[in-house]
Amino acid sequence: MRKKESIKKEWDDAAKSWVDFVRKGKDYYRDELNNPATFKLIGDVRGRLVLDLACGEGYNTRILARKGAKVTGVDFSEKLIELAKREEAKEKLGICYRVLDVADLKEFSSNHFDLVTCFMSLQDIENYKMAISEAARVLRN
Ligand SMILES: C[S@@+](CC[C@H](N)C(=O)[O-])C[C@H]1O[C@@H](n2cnc3c(N)ncnc32)[C@H](O)[C@@H]1O
Repeated sequence: MRKKESIKKEWDDAAKSWVDFVRKGKDYYRDELNNPATFKLIGDVRGRLVLDLACGEGYNTRILARKGAKVTGVDFSEKLIELAKREEAKEKLGICYRVLDVADLKEFSSNHFDLVTCFMSLQDIENYKMAISEAARVLRN
């Protein structure tokens, strides 16, 4: 397993090319397969409090917000969060972005969010068991 700091550096270094990939219609599997199925499964999010774990530059975070959710996006890559915030400045969707390791969500209280999402990221999270445990903790019963 790669270590957290090296994974974080890889994502910081890849931030600009990742933005190019996802925002310029090159992420076919997401746009044509994953998202249609996943958002159908998620259903109506209007007015829901949503936490998007490992949100990256916020592509799916913005989709959730455009569908009416009140979204917080967290990622440990400062660069990706900075790029997400720049997008939020252009299109104000009310998304709150935080730089955080998703294995440590202590700044969020337990039993708080209606939905926790984690799109295409568990494979990258070093301590994914703790991330899942934290997701369960902050989810409303
Ligand atoms: C394949 S990208 C997916 C990003 C986003 N969910 C999306 O759908 O575009 C994986 C993301 O996981 C983030 N990540 C990996 N390990 C993390 C951790 N321990 N805490 C927070 N973010 C993490 C990376 O910084 C990267 O943004």
